[in-house]
Amino acid sequence: MNIIMLGAPGAGKGTQAAVLSEHFGIPTISTGNMIREALKNGTEMGLKAKSFMDEGKLVPDEVVIGIVKERLSEDDCKKGFILDGFPRTIPQAEALDDMGVDIQYVININISDERIINRMSGRRVCENCGRPYHIVNLKPKKEGVCDDCNGTLVQRKDDHPDTVLARLKVYHTETEPLVGYYKKQGKLVDVEGQDSVDDTTAAVLKVIEA
Ligand code: AP5
Repeated sequence: MNIIMLGAPGAGKGTQAAVLSEHFGIPTISTGNMIREALKNGTEMGLKAKSFMDEGKLVPDEVVIGIVKERLSEDDCKKGFILDGFPRTIPQAEALDDMGVDIQYVININISDERIINRMSGRRVCENCGRPYHIVNLKPKKEGVCDDCNGTLVQRKDDHPDTVLARLKVYHTETEPLVGYYKKQGKLVDVEGQDSVDDTTAAVLKVIEA
């Protein structure tokens, strides 16, 4: 099964992707995590992406399309995958179609901008594997430590309120048009994202397992 998680920054894409990944035993491909990893390792691509990311802008299409194409060719993607944060522009969606990738579901998590700003300030992520947590809504079993890999939980640089506003603006102009793109293909499924993590997960699974 191949799934795309769609939604504004902070809608809960990464959180739900982690649950689905475990549930179906398929990998999550998060372009955000891949770019952050490249940055941590000081690669040329990571350094090129840094200024875009820090300002809440999108990294150029050709860079992201290249890393996704390479990742999808790996063996663990053969039985399915969850795309988290890709595609994010119409040219990226067209590139994915051109790769011949067959997507079954595009899960669009709906949430208001006000709720997002509130959530982002409390988000913490594992600096090792990227799994997201929240200081109130989704606590790890042990404070400051990732349940999955024992990595340290940190706050993302682009979760500063001003950068969150910039990311939301970019989402509405560049990414939201994908809702219509996938509706036209008959693959879009809307899910309510304002409720608790468990309620959102239940809604997502209901759609997929129906
Ligand atoms: P990326 O890392 O993809 O960030 P994003 O899309 O902005 O999304 P987030 O990871 O911020 O949010 P999310 O929806 O995954 O929410 P989460 O589950 O963490 O991208 C970062 C940057 O990389 C971009 O700005 C861009 O520069 C670059 N980039 C990446 N992909 C790119 C691409 N394809 N093209 C170009 N550039 C690209 O949840 C948020 C918080 O809320 C967490 O704390 C969580 O615990 C909590 N939460 C989640 N669900 C609930 C719930 N139901 N109730 C209460 N709290 C909840």
